[in-house]
Amino acid sequence: MGPHVCPWWGGYFIDNSLRRWLHNPERILTPYVAAGMTSLDFGCGMGLFAIAMARLVGAHGRVIAADLQPQMLDVVRRRAQRAGVAGRIHTHRCPRDSIGLDERLDFALAFYSAHEVPDVRRLFADLYRGLNPGGRFLIVEPRGHVTAKSFANMMELAGQAGFREQERPPVRLSRAAVLVKPAADAA
Ligand SMILES: C[S@@+](CC[C@H](N)C(=O)[O-])C[C@H]1O[C@@H](n2cnc3c(N)ncnc32)[C@H](O)[C@@H]1O
Repeated sequence: MGPHVCPWWGGYFIDNSLRRWLHNPERILTPYVAAGMTSLDFGCGMGLFAIAMARLVGAHGRVIAADLQPQMLDVVRRRAQRAGVAGRIHTHRCPRDSIGLDERLDFALAFYSAHEVPDVRRLFADLYRGLNPGGRFLIVEPRGHVTAKSFANMMELAGQAGFREQERPPVRLSRAAVLVKPAADAA
């Protein structure tokens, strides 16, 4: 058995106005997401970050909202319609053990999702391969579930995948890092 996966109905607890106050998606994403980008929200849940990303990438950008659970993706599609950004959001159902995408990415986010995947090493390798050189990956993990030691292990695995750590942005109740695929690596 792999790590615990947040049940789909749990999405209603992790995407409400208190959560928006705690983790304001626009404020968190604005330093990294710009108009015209292709941006991935891995483990998007009900789309708190994917919808904000869609606003930031603008009419010429593209967002891939990826999740294991189809119920989450149904909610994202409905919310995207209501927010008027459905044309920019592509929903993608991931297989359990990989992202399963073949896309060039400018930015990737894994917010509270990396600790739920069965193989983090594989996740980092997939993200590294998908990102364009110079592309950034923001990983945010819940302080309660993920100890400092576990997060340090994740950073070690990210380094082994080829990422360079750029910064540790402050995110409430969380451990976070911005990882970069070096611009010199055209792989
Ligand atoms: C705690 S929720 C976080 C949702 C969202 N990122 C947020 O911050 O509101 C974790 C999400 O990761 C998804 N997830 C877990 N394992 C996954 C996997 N192997 N591949 C893709 N998504 C996965 C779950 O279905 C769930 O929607």
